[in-house]
Parts: sequence; C-alpha cells; structure tokens
Amino acid sequence: MSAPAPPNAESSAPETLLLGQIIDFTADPFATPPPDCARHLSRGAILLRGGKIAEVGPAARLGEAHPTARRVDYGAALLLPGFVDAHAHYPQTGIIASWGKRLIDWLEGYTFPEESRFSDALYAATIAGRYLDLAIANGTTTVASFCTSHPESVTAFFQAAQARGMAVVGGKVAMDRNAPEALLDTPERAYDESKALLQRWHGQGRARYAITPRFTPTSSEAQLEAMGALWAEHPDCAMQTHLSEQAEEIAWVKELCPDAEDYLATYERHGLIGPGALFGHAIHLTPRERARLAESGSSVVHCPTSNTFIGSGVFDAAGLAAEGVTTGLATDTGGGSSFSMLRTMGAAYEISQLNGAVLHPAQLLWLATEGSARALRMESEVGTLAVGSAADIIALDLASTPAIAQRAARAGDIWEAVFPTMMMGDDRAIKAVWIGGVGRR
Ligand code: GUN
Ligand code: ZN
Repeated sequence: MSAPAPPNAESSAPETLLLGQIIDFTADPFATPPPDCARHLSRGAILLRGGKIAEVGPAARLGEAHPTARRVDYGAALLLPGFVDAHAHYPQTGIIASWGKRLIDWLEGYTFPEESRFSDALYAATIAGRYLDLAIANGTTTVASFCTSHPESVTAFFQAAQARGMAVVGGKVAMDRNAPEALLDTPERAYDESKALLQRWHGQGRARYAITPRFTPTSSEAQLEAMGALWAEHPDCAMQTHLSEQAEEIAWVKELCPDAEDYLATYERHGLIGPGALFGHAIHLTPRERARLAESGSSVVHCPTSNTFIGSGVFDAAGLAAEGVTTGLATDTGGGSSFSMLRTMGAAYEISQLNGAVLHPAQLLWLATEGSARALRMESEVGTLAVGSAADIIALDLASTPAIAQRAARAGDIWEAVFPTMMMGDDRAIKAVWIGGVGRR
C-alpha cells in the first residue's frame, strides 16, 4: 500500500501528480458499448494545477514532463472522478434505515417529524456537516440535495459544502399542503424565500441552486405555478422534484389533479419540465411520460436502494437510456439505505437484472459519474477527468476486503476487476478523496 495524500492539506507545490490506474470515458457506454467507450491506463497519472485537472496520460510521460510536481502514488488503485449523487435529502441523515413503512407513511411517520427540526439553524448545520462528511468518506464529491422548507436548512447546506470546497446543488423544499404545519409554507412564501436563497447562493463559488417543489401531493396548483414562474426567471438553476415513485402516490396525484393526463402533466402545465429538470425515481411511467421526458430534455434520477427499501418498484434504466432520456444515479438518502454510490451501483445492477437487462460495469460507473453530472448540467465541471474540470478525484482500492481481493485477483480485464468492488465495496474502498485539488481524505 502506498501512502495516501495528506488529509486536509493544501499543497504548497504548484503541481501535483496523482499516480494509479485510470479509466477515462471517451463515449457514453449506453450508446457505445465497452471497450470502445473508455480508455484504460494501467499506470497513469493525473496532473492537478490550480484546483483543476491539467493533464491526464501515461505515468512515465507525465512524470518526465513535470519533474518538480509533488507525487502521490496510489499504486494499483483506480483513479476516477469523484462520484456524483444526483438526488439526496441531507436532512434525512438521522432517520436513514427506519423500519417498516412505505412511501406515504414513511414520510408521515419518520421524515416530516425529522425535517420539522430544521428550523433550528444549529441542528441544520450539525446534520449538513455530518452528511457531507459521510458523502466524502464514501467518495461522493458532488451531491444534489433537497433541504427542508426552512431557509435555515439551505444556508446550512451551502455553508457546509463551501467549507469542504464541494460543488453542490441544493434548494429549499416548497410544500404548502398535506404535511404538518411546521413544514408548510405558501405559494408566495415559497417563491420569495426560494428567490432570496437562489440570489444568495446560485453561482457563489461552487454552489448551484435547485428550485425544489417536493412533489405534487404537497404542492398546490398555485405553488407549482409559482415555482414554474421562478424557474422561468432563472432557467440556469436546476429544478428537482419526485415523479411516479410508488403506486399509492400516483393514485393520490390522480385524486388531487383529476383533470391532469398523468403525473408528469401536473408539473408540465406549470413549466416544470425541460433541460435542468431532475425527476427523482420515475419508475411507473406511461408511454406519454417517457416520450415527453426524452423530447423535453429532462432528466430522471435512478434511486435503486430507495426503490427496494421503501418498496417502490423496478426502474427501467436500460429502456429509458435507449429512448434517449438522460439518467443520473442517486442514493436518495434517507429513503435510500446507503450513503455509498458503490452500494448504489450494485443495487442498480441487481434491479436491472430483475428487469431483464444486464448493466455493464462501464454503464454503472458512467451513471455514478458523467451520467449524473450530465443530468445536473455540470459535466464541464465534475464527473469526468477532462482537462479543465475540477480536480475532484477519488482513488478506489479494488482489493479493499479479503472477499473482494480474492475475486478481483482473477479478473481478466479492468471491468471485471472493478465489478466486485461495485457489488461488495463500501467506504473501505475509498482510499483517497481530492476536492478542488485538495486532499480531503
Ligand atoms: N416523495 C416526496 N418526498 C420524498 C422523500 O423525501 N423521499 C422519497 N423517497 N420520496 C419522496
Ligand atoms: Zn427524494
């Protein structure tokens, strides 16, 4: 084992060379099958300069060209872009793995009481810091998170991310019905508070704002309309919500909006669709919804550990990708049962098996990095090893436990070597995390 980067140390050297194995996508593996979608360097190097990726190539060549660069050698570990978690609820950190309920009673029984605590700025700051430290420990360097309906929860999230140098997406949850009083706002308040927060945070350093109506059952028509108006004024923000997660939820939407053609239409008629729209779950879709998601350039976010934990259903990753729907991957903490994007890739593989489609390790890795980054419209900054991208990089130990090591030892190629870590790995596989060129773990 080689020495890891010094944690929390800002390098005084102007250049740093990270050495290890490298996989670098050259094409979308859902469109260009492996091995042609990626290049593999068994001994590669990434040159970091000014918090960004300056060069990627064979270790020997980069080493010769940059003799004074600080070297950090990760041996046989795999250097990758940090994972991008495209849908999480940081305020649910404390209630992850809560037993025995499905979506609606899980929200009422566990989630809403916990989220009610986030009017307390100190509590919000404690959980935001805890959540982001857990994310980093699991190799996640960018996350799109729902906050709560309290502006304090948004401030706490962006401040905690700023302190860690992270590029994050976040937003105040808008909700004005069907929830406890302590969580409810109004259409006007949701508009005003969201606007003030986005003016404060969107584009500040690495922060991005997402206009965040929770979902149709908790937002009135008037509130969805207000959120649509705000997004039209600020189209470079993201818009995140939930869509067609569970059968009971869909039936409830039908009751609440009897004149809407389907669930997606309840958002669409208020302008809440299009590039930058992130629809979490999107499991039980009609053919019209699938077509509209593709045509409109919206994104869907696959939350596999949540979909099994809450009992929601089987997401059609391969089918939606084939239809041209941009897809990201996410933990959905704390409906999801893990902070780990490795565990999430494993769950995505298993769910796809139930759906009769075998996802290749390249496709899983793509979803957790560049795919999620594209869904967030952040692929020029995160999710790839492209020159000019932020130096958000992880070193993945492909033999982090005896069980994984013995399987990886007989791998015939890099994809077979990485797959056991996707299926059986956890935070022990995260050997190092660099964020903006700073070693954080
Ligand atoms: N639908 C509306 N709110 C939520 C939430 O917090 N988690 C999940 N999984 N689904 C939701
Ligand atoms: Zn969610």
